[in-house]
Amino acid sequence: MPESSENKSFFITTPIFYVNDAPHIGHAYTEVATDVLARWHRQSGDDTWFLTGTDEHGQKILRTATANGVAPKEWADRLVESAWRPLLNTINISNDDFIRTTDARHEEGVAKFLQKLYDDGHVYAGEFEALYCVGCEEFKPKSEIVDGTGAFEGEKVCAIHSKPLELLQEKNYFFKMSAFQDRLLALYEERPDFVQPASARNEVIAFVQQGLEDLSISRTSFDWGIPIPWDSSHVTYVWFDALLNYVTATGYGSNDEQFARRWPATHIVGKDILRFHAVIWPAMLMAAGLPVPEHVFAHGWLLVGGEKMSKSKLTGIAPNEITDTFGSDAFRYYFMRAISFGQDGSFSWEDLAARYQAELANGFGNLASRVLAMNAKYFGSVQPAAAEETAADQAIRELALKVTSAADTHIERFAIHEAIAEIWQLVDALNGYITEQEPWVLAKSEEQKPRLGTVLATATEGLRALAELLHPVVPEATAKLWAALGADEAIGALDEQPLRDAGTWGRLPAGTPQQPLAVLFPRIETDAESK
Ligand code: MSP
Repeated sequence: MPESSENKSFFITTPIFYVNDAPHIGHAYTEVATDVLARWHRQSGDDTWFLTGTDEHGQKILRTATANGVAPKEWADRLVESAWRPLLNTINISNDDFIRTTDARHEEGVAKFLQKLYDDGHVYAGEFEALYCVGCEEFKPKSEIVDGTGAFEGEKVCAIHSKPLELLQEKNYFFKMSAFQDRLLALYEERPDFVQPASARNEVIAFVQQGLEDLSISRTSFDWGIPIPWDSSHVTYVWFDALLNYVTATGYGSNDEQFARRWPATHIVGKDILRFHAVIWPAMLMAAGLPVPEHVFAHGWLLVGGEKMSKSKLTGIAPNEITDTFGSDAFRYYFMRAISFGQDGSFSWEDLAARYQAELANGFGNLASRVLAMNAKYFGSVQPAAAEETAADQAIRELALKVTSAADTHIERFAIHEAIAEIWQLVDALNGYITEQEPWVLAKSEEQKPRLGTVLATATEGLRALAELLHPVVPEATAKLWAALGADEAIGALDEQPLRDAGTWGRLPAGTPQQPLAVLFPRIETDAESK
């Protein structure tokens, strides 16, 4: 569907990723989920904009660069080019923009935003002493400070990173965040879908109800950051800097028209960074007189041994360890299907291999290859014409309509796993339909030729609908299927099909020439199953 500024705006973001290390599958998970949502909306004709990028300032990156003997900007350049941009290809991400917090557009926008808050009286200077986690880049609240064990016995450690906290004492600038407590609580109340899922919303409300403190927003003990515009002896606190990427990338302070068209955004974040997005960020926007985000959705963690997968705990798996064997479609499908979006989940090679075989190769791939092979054999590789419909054909047609609308509803509430499960009902129903209708038996009698045409036309329309519905999840396989259906020439590019009408029958005209189908999900010949 052609995009135009008159269509409904849908601006979606991932968090921006720290460049201290290369990505693991937890980061890729956030990217894929956001990409599926972006592709779904784009294909539905919404005026979609998908932003991702990298978070490059702060102590964590400075320390990593120093330990590697290079300047922080050089380190960031290296990681962005060698690891973070390539990740987007590895897992087939369709982002419209990629922001780096070292971009001039960002640094200028941050300075403008800070100056505005300062001029409007939302910022003051003060003294501060508290325990800081460099891994989180955050002064930790009491609830996340625990006693260390093993090598860190006797020390206070971060509950997330299990690493010692540092006592910092500095002269800082503070953002008067406490002044926004009541407005934030009113926001959560008035817009119950602002923070999702419900468990995340409850957590945020409970946190704010405990009382909000002012936020330290500058640092003086190092200089790898954006200078505070009115006092260059301070750099901006890395989270304050990072959160602003969502507006600086879309024209805040530089392109009012673009900003008005895109903002506000829907933010997809991991649950570990929910509070920054659902409390600090809307308070910052309120202070600046800007609209708060559309939604903040917190997804769960990929776990290893019951703990959040992380490079620092040496549990990270690189995305290409999976895609090299299974391909990017399988990566995308597996994580979106196997884990309830919004809850934690564990990755397992066995589960991935089993779902690949049963659901992708045998379920969807086999369905496509059987139907196209029968079209080739019985109808000379063209879309057959349908004759009179029976109840069985009608049931497939109705199911296609039902799953399309139900999947769209699930996507609206971020239930990606439910949307896929819904669409899969059509995969399963079509497989059952072919088994029951036995086209190979119908093909034995000339008299049954019209009936054979109806059965294969129904199955082929089903494949057409599946290609459209599954395109946001498995873009490569569905593009192969689309080419085999001859649909490009007959009705246009796959990503331009109106997704919300995917269930409407009769879109592929009878007689459309078909092409040989490339294998959608090849047999995995390696020992990946036993990895
Ligand atoms: N730079 C900050 C975000 C700033 S956004 C204004 C940051 N970066 S991060 O690289 O540490 O994490 C980025 C995202 O990856 C977060 O949403 C985080 O939850 C996600 N994940 C990191 N490890 C993960 C898992 N093990 N599982 C799922 N998501 C994971 O935080």
